[in-house]
Amino acid sequence: MELSGKNVCYVGGFGGIGIASIKVFLTKSIANLYILDLLENQELLESLRKQFPKTNIYYEKFDITSSNCIKNTLDKVIYTIRNIDVFVNGAGVLWEDKVEEMIAINLTGLINTTKAVRNIMDKSKGGKGGIILNIASLAGLASFPCLESYCATKHAVVGFTKSLSNQSVFEKTGISMITLCPGCTETPILNNLTNLEAYKVQPVDVVGEYLVKCVEIEKNGGIYLIDDSVGREIEQNPYYLN
Ligand SMILES: NC(=O)c1ccc[n+]([C@@H]2O[C@H](COP(=O)([O-])OP(=O)(O)OC[C@H]3O[C@@H](n4cnc5c(N)ncnc54)[C@H](O)[C@@H]3O)[C@@H](O)[C@H]2O)c1
Repeated sequence: MELSGKNVCYVGGFGGIGIASIKVFLTKSIANLYILDLLENQELLESLRKQFPKTNIYYEKFDITSSNCIKNTLDKVIYTIRNIDVFVNGAGVLWEDKVEEMIAINLTGLINTTKAVRNIMDKSKGGKGGIILNIASLAGLASFPCLESYCATKHAVVGFTKSLSNQSVFEKTGISMITLCPGCTETPILNNLTNLEAYKVQPVDVVGEYLVKCVEIEKNGGIYLIDDSVGREIEQNPYYLN
């Protein structure tokens, strides 16, 4: 997708990967950026508005675990910017000791948000199509000891996103579904990792760059891994293809 003039909505835009990604989106002359996050960052918001005056940048406090919040917030987003071309689901937590709460954010919240935004973007329902990119993880493709429940949520995000990329569904909706699986990345989420020395940690900026590249490639069903600062598309076993 050529991003110039487009509208981007980013859930988790004030997290580590979120900030790195929105900074790259803003260099692409997008028309509107809508940041949805539980976290507020007025200082960064003001500084981005000064740095990128040609893009309208909005923020709304957002809790992905609340269905009411998802509905009311998306109504407000559409009222303000009319249309979403690119939607990124980038909220997530690593809480092995709070499994239900983690599932509510990483999985149930992502599913509910994706479904709600698909209703808006779906061409067969009057929308314009576009791209939804869901952030899973390397932990959605591989197993990690001591992160078993986090791995489960991220494997589920891969399966959910892949299911929605079915070709016949895409032809109806015009929505490309993309999965991004970052490896260990330097962000605040790592504060919850006890054995960090066991992982290779990549800088967050390379993930932001790669996320936007995946959007520009716009391949429905694409699953991308970025680990140790190297990005590549994951070849899918034909057994699993649509
Ligand atoms: N950093 C890594 O090593 C890594 C690796 C693979 C995948 N990921 C995934 O990338 C995504 C971004 O993580 P990050 O590394 O930037 O971590 P982060 O902690 O910096 O950012 C997470 C963001 O999610 C938001 N969030 C948390 N709960 C929320 C809720 N209930 N409603 C709305 N927003 C909420 C937070 O406010 C924060 O902005 C997550 O899905 C994470 O699982 C991270």
